[in-house]
Amino acid sequence: MHLTAKELAALIPPEFILGVATSAFQIEGAVDEDGRGRAGWDVFAARPGAIVDDHSPAVSADHYRRMPEDVALMKQLGVDSYRFSISWPRIQPNGSGPVNPAGLAFYDRLLDELLANGISPMMTIYHWDTPLALDEAGGWMNRDTAYRLGEFAAIAAAAYGDRVARWVTINEPATVTTNGYALGLHSPGESLLLKALPSVHHQLLGHGLALQALRAAGVPGEIGMANVYSPMVPASGNPMDKLSTGFMDIAQNRLFADPVLTGEYPEVIRAAKFFGSFSHPDEDLDLISQPLDFYGLNYYMPTRVAAGAGDGPVPEGMEAALGEDLGESAPGAMLHITSWPGAQITAYGWPIVPEYVGVALAEIAERYPGLPPVYITEGGASFADTVVRAADSGRIMIPDERRIIYLAEHLQTVLEATAPGGIAEKIDLRGYYVWSLLDNFEWSGGYKQPFGLLHVDFETLERTPKASYFWLQELLAERQRMASSDNRVAMPAPSVE
Ligand code: BGC
Repeated sequence: MHLTAKELAALIPPEFILGVATSAFQIEGAVDEDGRGRAGWDVFAARPGAIVDDHSPAVSADHYRRMPEDVALMKQLGVDSYRFSISWPRIQPNGSGPVNPAGLAFYDRLLDELLANGISPMMTIYHWDTPLALDEAGGWMNRDTAYRLGEFAAIAAAAYGDRVARWVTINEPATVTTNGYALGLHSPGESLLLKALPSVHHQLLGHGLALQALRAAGVPGEIGMANVYSPMVPASGNPMDKLSTGFMDIAQNRLFADPVLTGEYPEVIRAAKFFGSFSHPDEDLDLISQPLDFYGLNYYMPTRVAAGAGDGPVPEGMEAALGEDLGESAPGAMLHITSWPGAQITAYGWPIVPEYVGVALAEIAERYPGLPPVYITEGGASFADTVVRAADSGRIMIPDERRIIYLAEHLQTVLEATAPGGIAEKIDLRGYYVWSLLDNFEWSGGYKQPFGLLHVDFETLERTPKASYFWLQELLAERQRMASSDNRVAMPAPSVE
C-alpha cells in the first residue's frame, strides 16, 4: 500500500520542488505554423512503419494553441515548477542563421504566463527535435551540430535568460544515440550499432558548448543537463550475463555520465578503443566537464540483462507495445533485456520496481563523489488508461490508480533514500518532475503510450484530469497546509505582560 498524501507530504523537505515535465515536439503540434522550420523528426515520423499505427505528430496535443489552458491546469494542480523544452526548428528554422521572431515569441508568452501563475520555469534547450537541415548534414554524427547547439543556447540565453530559473542543456543523449543512431528506432533512423559512438561525443560537446554560452551570457538561473539512468542487473549469476550487464551499464549509463561528472570516458571504453578511428581534441573534455549547478536524472526503471540474442532486443511487453516491426528479433545480438520476474509492467513493458530509483541514486552517489545537487528531471509511467463515461452527464473520468501507485512509491523511495540515514543520503536532492503533464506523442510509441496526469482526447483535443492529477493536487495542497502550520508554530509567541 502506498502512503497517503499526508504521510508522503510529511517526508518532503521544505524547499523540495515538485514539478511536471513535457517536451516541445511531443506536445506542441502546429508543425507548419508561424515560420517553424522542419525537424528531422517530422520526416522520420512520416516514414511508414516508423511510428506505431503511423501516428502523426503534426497536431499532437495542440499545446502551441492551447498553452494558456495548459498553464491554467498546472496552476490548479499547484506545482512549483514546469520543465519544458524549446523547439529548435521553431526558433531557428535551419538550425543556424536567422531566428524566427514568431517562434521566439511563443516561449516569451509561455514564460510570462508561467511566472504570472507563480510557476518556476525549467527550460530544456535540446530535447531531440534537431532541425532537418542539421540532420541532413549528418546530425549528431557531425561535430558541427555541437557548435550549432552552442549558438542556439546563446539565442535562448539572450531571449529568456531573465526569466528561466533552471536550464537543462540537453536531454538524454543516451536515448538519441541508442534509438536514433544505433538501432534506427528514433529519428534520424540510423542503424549504425557501435559506429554510432561519435554521436555520443558530439552531443556531450554540444552540452559543453551550450553550458559555456549560458555562462558567457551571465544567466542568473541554475544550469544542468539531464541523463537517463537505469540500474543494470544481471538475469543470473552466470558470468556471461554479468559481463553483458557491465557492458550495458557502460553503454547506457557511464558513457554519458562519466565524461560530464569526471571529465573522462570510462576506462574500458578508452582501453578497448571503442571509438575506433574516431578521435577528438582532449580539450573537449574540459568543456564537457565544466561544473554544473545541478545534475538532472531521468529515472523510469531498472534493466535486467542477459547474454545472447534472447527472443528479441526488447522485452515481450515492449514488443507488444511497439508492434512487430519495431520489436523484431535481432539474431546474433550479444545481449538482450529480459523481463523482471514478478514485477508489474507499464504499457511499454517496463518493470515497476520502485526501490530501484533509490538504487539509482545510491549508485550515482557512490560513483560521483563531487556530484552537484540533483533533480529527478523525469519520472512516470505509461498505462493504457480506462476512460469511464458517466451515463447521465456524459462526463469522463480516468481512474489511473496504477499511475498513482507508481508515483507515490517512487516519490516515497527517493525521499527516504536521500533523507539522513538513507541509502543515498549523500545526494542533495532538490526536486522531482513527473513525466508528463499531459498525454502526448510518445516518439515511436505514438499516442499509444499515455504518460499524462491529464488525459488528452486526440480527436477533440480536450484535456481531462485523471485521478493521478487529483492525487498530486492533494499532495501539493497537503504540503502547503503543513508548511503554513509549521510557520505558525515557528512564530514567536506574543509576550503577555
Ligand atoms: C524522454 C521523454 C519520453 C519519456 C518516456 C524519456 O526518455 O526524455 O521524451 O517521453 O522518456 O519514454
